[in-house]
Amino acid sequence: MGRLVVVSNRVPAPRDRLQPAGGLAVALRAALKEGSCLWFGWSGQQVSEKEGHDPEVSLDKVENVTYATIDLTHAEYDGFYQKYSNGILWPLCHYRAGLMDYDRKDRVIYQNVNELFARKLLPLLQPGDQIWIHDYHLFPLGQALRDLGVTAPIGFFLHIPFPPWSLMRALPEADALLRAMQAYDVIGLQTEDDARNMNDGFSIVGVKARAEVFPIGIDPDSFAKQAEEGLSNPDVQRLKESLRGKPFIIGVDRLDYSKGLPERLKGYEIFLERYPEHRGKVVYLQVTPVSRGNVPEYRALRRELDEAAGRINGTYGDFDWTPIRYLTHPVPRALLASFYRLADAALVTPLRDGMNLVAKEYVAAQDKANPGVLILSHFAGAAPDMEAALMVNPHDADDIADALHKALTMPDGERRARWDHLEPDVWRVTALTWARDFIQALGKARLA
Ligand code: ADP
Ligand code: F6P
Repeated sequence: MGRLVVVSNRVPAPRDRLQPAGGLAVALRAALKEGSCLWFGWSGQQVSEKEGHDPEVSLDKVENVTYATIDLTHAEYDGFYQKYSNGILWPLCHYRAGLMDYDRKDRVIYQNVNELFARKLLPLLQPGDQIWIHDYHLFPLGQALRDLGVTAPIGFFLHIPFPPWSLMRALPEADALLRAMQAYDVIGLQTEDDARNMNDGFSIVGVKARAEVFPIGIDPDSFAKQAEEGLSNPDVQRLKESLRGKPFIIGVDRLDYSKGLPERLKGYEIFLERYPEHRGKVVYLQVTPVSRGNVPEYRALRRELDEAAGRINGTYGDFDWTPIRYLTHPVPRALLASFYRLADAALVTPLRDGMNLVAKEYVAAQDKANPGVLILSHFAGAAPDMEAALMVNPHDADDIADALHKALTMPDGERRARWDHLEPDVWRVTALTWARDFIQALGKARLA
């Protein structure tokens, strides 16, 4: 079997204990355990501009994966990553056209960086390779590779939602973006809604391409094992002791406006107001590592959350009780898994999300004899398969408040019954089945 060449903007540092928070890196890490793989992308480093910038590819092999990365200049990082990818495509794909900060010159830098990726990847390719490109940073990369003469099978997977065409066309070059997708042999999205939206776009623009659904998952066995084994970890013990038997709620999200965090904190505030019996008793840990911290909307969100957490703690806290424990740094995954297991409820309330792996991780981490309750937004990609969770509308803070009360007072039988309904899907659709199904489709597409 040939090599699998994975390309994504974010490539995890192969030896880092604190992996970056983000579904793409987590799912791919879990999926690339077999076969020979090359993973190409940005190193995470920025360098100063130089005349005729031509970055060197740095290579690092760990087990079956060779990591090949390049640095970006400050200007590339700004135009390609911060502005076009995260200031234009990200809000648009999350149905937030109003947050889009459009400027034509960023489009040029985006295209140039995609062409740079293609040029740097080309000499690393070998006969028999299958290429799998990931996410919105790299929509035009397939076409850029084809323009350099690459004939290998190329697939593309979008980890985030794709909006209806009526919204997507707010992007001036939306037509061109869809036309460039003809370079791909297989195009994968997370949900039926996303695939339908993209296919509608294809037929309106007159593009011969077809998007299919390949839902992503986690590695549930290893996550469940980590959750259980980690309970004896001194840091997990420390958390447990600090809870002193109080009901424990957890939230784990990158600091991103798609995650519905201000709405969630408002829901928690209403919960404390409306159900005073929980005051002084409940502990809510919100782990929210700063993400894309230089993009203005993300900076503003951080200020808003700092303020909301401070206000809630100031209003409802007491000298021996803090209503919210709010962290803006990542937590090692092994600890996170056991934190989930200790939690009586998890709040996963995005306004819009491609899939949301945290929802699946929380289910996998539970003790089946005494599982916690998942509170889940209707607008997570995971929602259609997880309706046994307590489903909420994340825009409605009252709904979140009532769901919290219901979760913390739910009879044991109902908690177990809900978890029994959630569990099979988390084990059926995994990171491995996702990758296997996509790669199989890619193999077949070329034979067809
Ligand atoms: P996204 O890709 O938008 O960040 P997902 O929920 O799909 O959202 O994936 C997030 C991944 O990042 C999960 O695997 C989660 O465990 C991890 N993660 C999120 N927040 C943290 C954190 N604070 N510390 C460590 N890992 C985190
Ligand atoms: O899954 C969506 C995603 O944008 C990934 O592409 C990305 O790696 C992750 O979220 C985290 O974002 P970033 O790479 O910008 O830190």
